[in-house]
Amino acid sequence: MDLRRNLPAPLKPEGDWAHIFSYHPMDVELERAEGIYYWDTEGNKYIDASGGPMAFTLPHGDPRMKQAIADQMDKFTHIHPVLASRPRADLCAKIATITPPKLNTTYLVSGGSEAVETAMKAARQHHVANGKIEKYKIMSNYQSYHGMTLATQGLSGNPSYDRYFGPMLPKWPHIHQYSDHDRPEGMPREEWAIKSAGELEKAIYFEGPHTVAAYIATPHGCGSDYGVVAPKEYWQEIRRICDHYDVLLIADEVVTGFGRTGKWFAMEQFGVEADIMTTAKGISGCYLPLGAVMVSDEINAPFEAGDAHFVHGFTNGGHPLACAAGSMAIDILQSDGLMENAAAMGEHLFSWKDKMLEHRTVADARGWGLFMVLELVENKTTMEYFDQDKGAEGLFQALAHKNGLVFYGTLYGARRQPLFKRGLPLWISPPLSITKDQIDDMMARLDDTLGEWEEQLGV
Ligand SMILES: Cc1ncc(COP(=O)(O)O)c(C=O)c1O
Repeated sequence: MDLRRNLPAPLKPEGDWAHIFSYHPMDVELERAEGIYYWDTEGNKYIDASGGPMAFTLPHGDPRMKQAIADQMDKFTHIHPVLASRPRADLCAKIATITPPKLNTTYLVSGGSEAVETAMKAARQHHVANGKIEKYKIMSNYQSYHGMTLATQGLSGNPSYDRYFGPMLPKWPHIHQYSDHDRPEGMPREEWAIKSAGELEKAIYFEGPHTVAAYIATPHGCGSDYGVVAPKEYWQEIRRICDHYDVLLIADEVVTGFGRTGKWFAMEQFGVEADIMTTAKGISGCYLPLGAVMVSDEINAPFEAGDAHFVHGFTNGGHPLACAAGSMAIDILQSDGLMENAAAMGEHLFSWKDKMLEHRTVADARGWGLFMVLELVENKTTMEYFDQDKGAEGLFQALAHKNGLVFYGTLYGARRQPLFKRGLPLWISPPLSITKDQIDDMMARLDDTLGEWEEQLGV
């Protein structure tokens, strides 16, 4: 088998054997999935080491999920949103029991990009309702990712989108999110956190606070700093700045929400409450497409009172089958103690950190809960990643498959931002049901994979 497969050129269209999302063409056709495992059509078994696209909170093939969806299907599959829907009402009520105290209203969508766009609209309408019609800009971070629609690509500070869609994207300011990489030597993280958060204040100030509606960010870094957990002081200062300038804080919890970090929502770890929260992926364990936007009581007040109408509504938003899946997902997370497991197993996962750092290509191992990011480099001193012609990513994935692991493709990092010498994030985020022995098995296979990768690349 030729392990050094390069990017297919051109990328094949969706519907073809290799999905366009697959930067590392997998000559693997999946047949079934159960627990943390996949089996391909040739009977090979793989550990789902990234939980799909950092999304699968639940074990694969859970019979309770199948039953909940089938039960709803027996009643009705879809209804027009003007009709009252028990599955939608039940899910929203259930979500309100687990969200931070002020986020009591949920608007349902089908995925993360729709959730972020809906959050943008809620922020804008909030300010319009308060007579602040000049506030419309949504600020965000460089190298972030908030979705694939045009508006969300505008938030994702990534020049590769501009290349095609530049004139069509919102052009609002971006800032640098907290990074330990840039931290001056000897400066404590807490002090650097306050300085870093000051970037937001400067950007709002120079943009004109009267024009800024909201700031959106993910709780654990982005781009080449993916998985960096800033000190709580960072987020507390961000909250203070937002309050001071009447800028709403939107926490994009599409990846971190629903238990991944050991809490329902990651911002709880910092003791900070956002005004709007966006979720998807883990909300239904991806059994069905579902996303949700939770807004504060203050934002929802004019809609609730009928003084304003929230311009919202997708044909499949609040789809009854997806709602049934979402409700059962929350029940399973609770009844199986999956969040507690994420916290406990997260500690076990991070007991492998030093072993990972022994590798010549692992510059950093960071994260929280059942979410670890390895920053892969060619050279730890210069932090440079392999030249594209070495086919390092394709080789890594091929070796991982040979060793029984499936990882999410490395979409960010050096390849995307060649100006900055940084590594390529590798995401370790298995289903939250993983056991200690399974973690050891997964990490031992990863250890072997990294060793073989280094040997074959001659590092
Ligand atoms: C933080 C974040 N926000 C939004 C999205 C977009 O979600 P979706 O792919 O469901 O549209 C993603 C997807 O990976 C994400 O990671």
